[in-house]
This record gives sequence, C-alpha cells and structure tokens, in this order.
Amino acid sequence: MNKIQLKNVSKIYNNKVVALDNVSLTVKQGEFIVVMGQSGSGKSTLLQISGLLDACTSGSVIINGNDVSHLDKNKLADIRMNSLGFVFQAFHLNAHLKLYENIMVPMLINDKFKNRAEMQEKAMELIEKVGLTHRKEHYPSELSGGEQQRVAIARAMANDPDFILADEPTGNLDSKNEIMIFEELKKLSDSGKGVLVVSHNDAVIDFADKLYVMKDGVLEEKQNEK
Ligand SMILES: Nc1ncnc2c1ncn2[C@@H]1O[C@H](COP(=O)(O)OP(=O)(O)OP(=O)(O)O)[C@@H](O)[C@H]1O
Ligand SMILES: [Mg+2]
Repeated sequence: MNKIQLKNVSKIYNNKVVALDNVSLTVKQGEFIVVMGQSGSGKSTLLQISGLLDACTSGSVIINGNDVSHLDKNKLADIRMNSLGFVFQAFHLNAHLKLYENIMVPMLINDKFKNRAEMQEKAMELIEKVGLTHRKEHYPSELSGGEQQRVAIARAMANDPDFILADEPTGNLDSKNEIMIFEELKKLSDSGKGVLVVSHNDAVIDFADKLYVMKDGVLEEKQNEK
C-alpha cells in the first residue's frame, strides 16, 4: 500500500450536517500531510474516512488504485490492521498494562507474530525508538502526557503500517511535548511512512510537507511558508 486517495468525498451526517464537502486529498508514503481547521470543521471526519473507520456519503476512497467502497467489513479491518496505525488526542492506553504490554496489544490480533516472545521483542524495539526503554515496565499513570503519547505512537507502529493517521495528537500536551510528538511523527515520515495529522495546533506547520486548511468541510491547500 503506498497511497491513500480521497476523490470528491462528501460526508453528510443524518441527512443534514455536511461534515465534508467534495474533498480530494492524496497521502503518499514518505509524506507528512497536515490538515488544520477550527473545531467542527470536519478534521476528525476526514481522518476517520481516510482510515477506513467510517464510510463516505459520496465520492471515493482509493487505496493503491482500488476503490474500497465495495469491500466488506472484514476486508476493511484487514487493511486497517496491516497498513494503518492510529494516534488519538486522548492516548487511549490501557491503564492496567505496562508500557511494553500496551504496545503488544495490536500484535495480538495479527497472525504474523509467532509467539509472545516475538511480540515482546518487537515492542522493546519500538519503545526504544520513542526513547522510553527506561520506562518499559511502568504503567501509563506513571508517565507524563508526552511520554504516554510517545507510547501511543509506538503502539501505532506495532504492525508496521504504511500510514500513520493522527487526530489532534498534541491536544493534551504542553508546548515542549507538542514539538517532541511532531518530531516523532516526522521521523516516521522520513522513514517512509505516510503521515496524516489533523490538528488546530500551529506548531505542526513547521513539519508539514503539504499543508491544508479545512473550513466548514471544504479543504483548501495552503502555501507552506515554513
Ligand atoms: N456522528 C456524528 N453525527 C452527526 N454529526 C456529526 C457526527 N460527527 C461529527 N458531526 C458533525 O460534523 C461536523 C464535523 O465534525 P468533526 O468531528 O469532523 O470536526 P473536527 O474538525 O474534528 O472538530 P474538533 O476540532 O472539535 O475535533 C461537526 O459539525 C460535527 O458536529
Ligand atoms: Mg476532531
């Protein structure tokens, strides 16, 4: 999988709320794509549709040249498991699992790992990449917000996806941690992942290869003067 394309995508909730209005967007591997926009402008809707978590009302979502609209739920879940990683504002870590165990969770549904030892080894590798090896046995409540979000990024990488989709990943963080999270995500796009970040945080602009602004469901590309 090397490309996610949205072509003339609209999303209308309950036959009345136009959350996306004829949106076209391409995210390629190796790119860091940013969509900014005010609250209610349609950013999360865009991310959910790009991540095959929700269907559009009209238009098409095309993955590697194939329209996904005719795929059944299982096939969509397969694509999500193998090719997509998600990062959310509220981290969504399991409070009862140690850091490295949190990272192992998505691996449990993937039959590419032979046994627990293999999963644990991969989890340790990812935890090292986000600089938290010294905290691997800790629980989420023992970490700062920025550290928790780095764990969530490591978890998003568990099944080695082609794309990382992040919805307001710095929403709960102070400015120092914000930059650290954007740097982590940038590293992933530099390593060949496609990264799509939706946010209203200006600090992300410096990292964007392409910058878009969403207003009332309409997406517009902006010149990035970083
Ligand atoms: N499940 C839903 N049913 C009905 N309307 C919805 C639903 N989800 C979102 N909306 C509406 O669609 C519009 C876009 O919502 P969305 O969550 O995509 O905005 P957003 O840009 O992510 O906002 P925020 O920055 O506050 O997260 C809003 O008007 C919202 O009220
Ligand atoms: Mg949102």
